[in-house]
Amino acid sequence: MHDAAYTRKPYKTYARKECDPSRLGAIARLYGLETALPSACRMAELGCGSGGNLIPLAERYPESSFLGIDAAQGHIDEARAMSESLGLGNIEWVCADLVHYALDRAGFDYIVAHGLFSWVPQDVQRRLLQLCKRGLAPHGVALISYNTLPGWRQRGAARDIMQVGAALVGGLDPDEQLNAGLAMLRVVASERVGTSDLYGSYLREMLARFEGSESSYLFHEFLEEHNNPCLFSAFMERAQQEGLQFLSEAKVSLMSSEGLGSDAQKALAQLGEDIVAREQVLDLFRNRMFRETMLCDERHAVRRDLKASVFKELFFRTTFRRARGDDESSACFRELVSGRELPAPTGMVSDILAAAGSFGAPGARPADIQAHASAATGQVSHADLVAALITLWRAGFVEISCDNQMAAPDAQVLRPLQFSVRQAEQGGLVTSLRHEALELSHEEREIVAACSTGEERAVVASVAQKRGVSEDRVLDGISRLCELGFFWA
Ligand SMILES: C[S@@+](CC[C@H](N)C(=O)[O-])C[C@H]1O[C@@H](n2cnc3c(N)ncnc32)[C@H](O)[C@@H]1O
Repeated sequence: MHDAAYTRKPYKTYARKECDPSRLGAIARLYGLETALPSACRMAELGCGSGGNLIPLAERYPESSFLGIDAAQGHIDEARAMSESLGLGNIEWVCADLVHYALDRAGFDYIVAHGLFSWVPQDVQRRLLQLCKRGLAPHGVALISYNTLPGWRQRGAARDIMQVGAALVGGLDPDEQLNAGLAMLRVVASERVGTSDLYGSYLREMLARFEGSESSYLFHEFLEEHNNPCLFSAFMERAQQEGLQFLSEAKVSLMSSEGLGSDAQKALAQLGEDIVAREQVLDLFRNRMFRETMLCDERHAVRRDLKASVFKELFFRTTFRRARGDDESSACFRELVSGRELPAPTGMVSDILAAAGSFGAPGARPADIQAHASAATGQVSHADLVAALITLWRAGFVEISCDNQMAAPDAQVLRPLQFSVRQAEQGGLVTSLRHEALELSHEEREIVAACSTGEERAVVASVAQKRGVSEDRVLDGISRLCELGFFWA
């Protein structure tokens, strides 16, 4: 049974912004597909876990319909209990093994499968790809994540060691197995302390990465029976055999060759227009270990020149904000979630990034960003704007979306997702309307909970203060939550 390991050790599923149909749809539209708008779409998730990815989408798009399929009864029960308690009537849950499930001619606009492909046997992998081919609407998009080689080979050493450790204690208790696996990894890593060999440094790096990781993730990634990383080209061969083709990576910035040396650039240039070969060789340079690949039906003529008519209808937003003085040498941008600072891009590109940031979480259409940048810095031409936004998008500074449902930074009524209010009350990660599960401070969680079904700022402030959050913390918290996209427009 494929679900046995997940019954012993359930997996907590959270929102992944790469699965957001407003992002997937925007990317696919730029490449020439006429994808359905997320507000009127059909979406399925294969291996949906406990539903944390689909539920906030079903709440955001009440006119769309959603289907979650998973082999683990416990996961489906948890997902169903949450969606029913939120009164969501547009989401169906099915407990089934994909191998025995038919999705034929179902006409889904979006099918996502995160954390499934590498962790199931070959027959399930094949079925997954077949379900995508048969289940997609003519302009539909599938998103499949998987572990890749060569990057995963280093992680594989940690997996081998942990499996030996777990096997030595035997038994079926996942926590005992994980503890034994981790103990073995620590002993082996400490044995290499003081040595300068690569083995020791890989293992120490792995242990550092494990800090703060959820035990269910560690168990299923490192001790699960199946974890079969593959080369990107091998994955694409399997997908092509089932009639699917490569559309894009969901994190578009990972398709860039920016920063690679001249020999690497030459090697890539020799590959010409062969996008699969190019992506495969890029993985070698980047030592890539994980991919989130978007696929579509092989019958589409995918355009790689990006459609201008689509471009102007999309929303561009950024979580980067100007951090220091305007002079070129000291200017930098800070990312709101991670706090990481990056040197400002040069010249006008920087001004356009700052202009996009001034619209806050909802972002804006290119024409509005152009008007804002022109007012701030003098005339910005349409051609300059388009070039800058594409550069920024490809570099990962801006995101694109088909819609903008989020409140502007100065919104007076604060209305969060009801799913987020539940998460805030329970503790743990909380989902924004950007479809990101974020770790909030205690104060920020109290504010989201205080917003209930939607309240004026002053009411939220007084409720949060009654819950022990000081006035200045409330104001800071509300403004950060607005910037992160926690409230509806
Ligand atoms: C690592 S979890 C990922 C869950 C969720 N997609 C996420 O990202 O949090 C893998 C999920 O796939 C489900 N699964 C594994 N094999 C399956 C199969 N053959 N058919 C349906 N679901 C399966 C498991 O029950 C589990 O919930």
